[in-house]
Amino acid sequence: MTTSRRKLIAGNWKMNGLKASLAEALAVAEALERQPCTERVAICPPATLIAPMAQVLQGSQVQVGGQNCYTQPMGAFTGEISAEMLADAGASLVILAHSERRQFFGETDESAAEKVRAALRAGLEPIVCVGETLDERRAGRTLEIVARQVRGSCPPELRGCVFAVAYEPVWAIGTGLTPTLEEIEQVHGAIRGLLAESLAEAGRTAPILYGGSVKPSNARDILAASEVGGALVGGASLKADDFLGIIRAAA
Ligand code: 13P
Repeated sequence: MTTSRRKLIAGNWKMNGLKASLAEALAVAEALERQPCTERVAICPPATLIAPMAQVLQGSQVQVGGQNCYTQPMGAFTGEISAEMLADAGASLVILAHSERRQFFGETDESAAEKVRAALRAGLEPIVCVGETLDERRAGRTLEIVARQVRGSCPPELRGCVFAVAYEPVWAIGTGLTPTLEEIEQVHGAIRGLLAESLAEAGRTAPILYGGSVKPSNARDILAASEVGGALVGGASLKADDFLGIIRAAA
């Protein structure tokens, strides 16, 4: 099985976590050391914790990722962090264009594509997020919106690269609501078609993660759905026990 065919279970801590929270990441790593899993596991903490988390998790099965990066490698861009800086701090992945970035920080498909190029330049594996709002779903526009986001946010440079796409319906994030398995399979199938069409082999094999209210209790069914190549987990990744429950459900 190639790296890209293994499921990827990634935790997005969002703007949560202080130094004391490193204990949760360490608990995940230690549990996986005692009982290894075949999936890939990553935690994406706030930028302040990337370096110390990478240190704590060194030699473990758990990779560390960023939640965003700027397009330029360095320079006079106060407050921004480059992909190169994330890599230097110990990250090997980066979440890009999360719906909260799109919603609160004006990110677009164009800026997402630029950031994907920046991530690749720095040797990071991008996790590109897409997903419709509740209004868009109610209007029957889910596939149209997701297709536009995939086309606009996944540039041709991804051909030949290791990357992931995360389908996260905005209305499912932090709400406890999830689409039906059929709805997830429909969107993931559509994303696979688009990626395969535009990105050749890389597009055929990139894992398509599902995100939005994934918990230990629903993870098994979701992760077994067709074209679901992993999960991007918010709230339930903050506690080692919950995150481990999801990781174990992937097996
Ligand atoms: P929740 O798992 O808290 O719904 O968040 C999902 C998410 O946004 C992960 O990026």
